[in-house]
Amino acid sequence: MGNEGSMEHISAPPRSYARSQELFARAQQIIAGGTTQGKAPSTLIPGEYPIYAARGRGAYLWDVDGHRFLDWILAYGIIVLGYCDPDVDRAAIREIEEGFAFPLTRPVQNELAELLVEVIPCAEMVHFFKTGSDATSAAVRLARIVTGRDKVVRWGYNGWHDWCCIREAGIPRKVREDVLTFRYNDLNSLEDVLSQNRDQVACVLMMPLEIEPPQPGFLDGVKALARQYGALFILDEMRSGFHLALGGAQEYYGVTPDLATFSKAMSNGYAISVLAGRRELMQHLTQTYVSSTFFTNSIAMAAAVATIKKLRREQVIPHLWRIGQALMDGLDRLIQETGVEAQTAGVPPMPFLVFRYADPEVRETAKYLFYRETARRGVLLHPNHHWFVCASHTEQDVADTLEVCADAFHVVKQALARGYRAPAFQKVRVTVSTGQDKP
Ligand SMILES: Cc1ncc(COP(=O)(O)O)c(C=O)c1O
Repeated sequence: MGNEGSMEHISAPPRSYARSQELFARAQQIIAGGTTQGKAPSTLIPGEYPIYAARGRGAYLWDVDGHRFLDWILAYGIIVLGYCDPDVDRAAIREIEEGFAFPLTRPVQNELAELLVEVIPCAEMVHFFKTGSDATSAAVRLARIVTGRDKVVRWGYNGWHDWCCIREAGIPRKVREDVLTFRYNDLNSLEDVLSQNRDQVACVLMMPLEIEPPQPGFLDGVKALARQYGALFILDEMRSGFHLALGGAQEYYGVTPDLATFSKAMSNGYAISVLAGRRELMQHLTQTYVSSTFFTNSIAMAAAVATIKKLRREQVIPHLWRIGQALMDGLDRLIQETGVEAQTAGVPPMPFLVFRYADPEVRETAKYLFYRETARRGVLLHPNHHWFVCASHTEQDVADTLEVCADAFHVVKQALARGYRAPAFQKVRVTVSTGQDKP
């Protein structure tokens, strides 16, 4: 055991990541954490994933060792059109050429605000930030101002600021005590939290989904319970926004929150986030102080306008659903054919694969081999985070990915039949949100 022996003939040869590893070794001396992406697959399955990118185009990226990858991670969903989208990059370059950092505001901010108010159901007013955590923290601040209450009920990954950090180190206990959670698709668990903290909860803030889709009536039920207990209902649409529908999960599932936060796909990779919501609530933002060193920097605003217009003009969202569905259907077919114990999960624009072996060692081995083999064959899939589809993915990309996945499933099947177990590797675990999970 622990030796693949005679299955080597079907396992793809390892790729050399010498340059990536050289850069990473240096980074560990000068950058805390080595890189700033602790959730990267290269940290989960060391030696089997690239670490440094050289360039990207469409749905493909090339690493510094010269390997090409078909990418379904897409910088964790910030890329929705494809790498180096010419329309978005041209808009950003125009902004750079005219100047993008003044003590004055550039008119493009109004243009973006108008567009967001048009496409996001809950948006009567918006306020711009630079990161997702900025926007979710502003939403919580605003809910506390409006309700005069301190406690927050939250679900999913909502950022790294004190009130929602997934690790306790450095977070005052007093801050943690004011933040509660509940079980997804379980309205009773939410009602328990709200009734036990009556008149104290400022908001219920949640991702509309992560991997498990909402059961019919669940999101409406959350909204109704929040109302009943005098709390605001806030959707964190960093990932679902501009993926499920132009107006996010709130448009797709037909449930309008009081406030919502967006970022990621909104600008195809440029740094911007937004808090959106009802005018009567948003107006209270002037009671507090929110800011950013780069608040007038308008490159990302121009990029966001170009991205949203292109998503709409080119009907990109139906494409994301079509391609994601074809990928999930193909994976389901392969699972049937090969007999691996796995199933697809998530929604087509953000699909995922879950291995179902009851024995954790077998399950981890299956995951390890599947992701190792797909990476070795040039397809980037994340073992620990749902994947993303972009406008540049084609039917041919789906076919190519499925061919690679078929090979990877065969490796899994053969290795498990021989009693092979994965070598000790970093813990690879599936994130199904409990409110404590990683992004
Ligand atoms: C749903 C969700 N909310 C909030 C955040 C935090 O965003 P940021 O990392 O930009 O602060 C993320 C980031 O991945 C996210 O996925």
